[in-house]
Amino acid sequence: MKRAAAARAALAVVAVAVAGPGVARAGSAHVDYMLECQGCHLADGSGSPGAVPDLRASLPTLVRTAEGRGYLVRVPGSASSPLSDAELAAVLNWMVASFAGDAAGPGFEPFSAAEVASYRRVPLLRVEALRTRLLGAAEVEDVY
Ligand code: HEC
Repeated sequence: MKRAAAARAALAVVAVAVAGPGVARAGSAHVDYMLECQGCHLADGSGSPGAVPDLRASLPTLVRTAEGRGYLVRVPGSASSPLSDAELAAVLNWMVASFAGDAAGPGFEPFSAAEVASYRRVPLLRVEALRTRLLGAAEVEDVY
């Protein structure tokens, strides 16, 4: 029993070290991206043909309109993530800078926590239909 308790205590220390605020929430958008998004979108945003879109191809178009910005927030991977509105805004800004770069255009306004909050409360039920309307059918084929 004593040994089990000691093992549990040791495990708790490890768990705190791994999941503690210093590691899991370092305030770094890149770390949040790695933890919450990269599993599907990959380190370079290229995704997976036929399953996860190539963000390098889609973001430059999607960031240019208010409806497109709303889509980026409301898409399930974004909206349903455990990130706070401020953290999600930071991750989206990091993604645009990293994967769209100059293609986002000089007028790109960073997402704010308030903008994310306003879009996030509106569920997006027909993801593919909105995506197709925003990108156009040809581009959707290219991206996936
Ligand atoms: C389980 C896999 C998965 C995870 C994890 C995931 N996504 Fe996605 N993401 C997708 C898929 C698939 C799409 C295409 C739209 C759809 O079907 O939801 C997508 C689309 C997007 C888009 C719109 C780009 C486009 O071309 O349609 C954004 C922005 C996005 N995800 C952000 C995120 C963020 C931010 C996270 C992490 C907080 C995240 N995703 C986590 C699978 C994922």
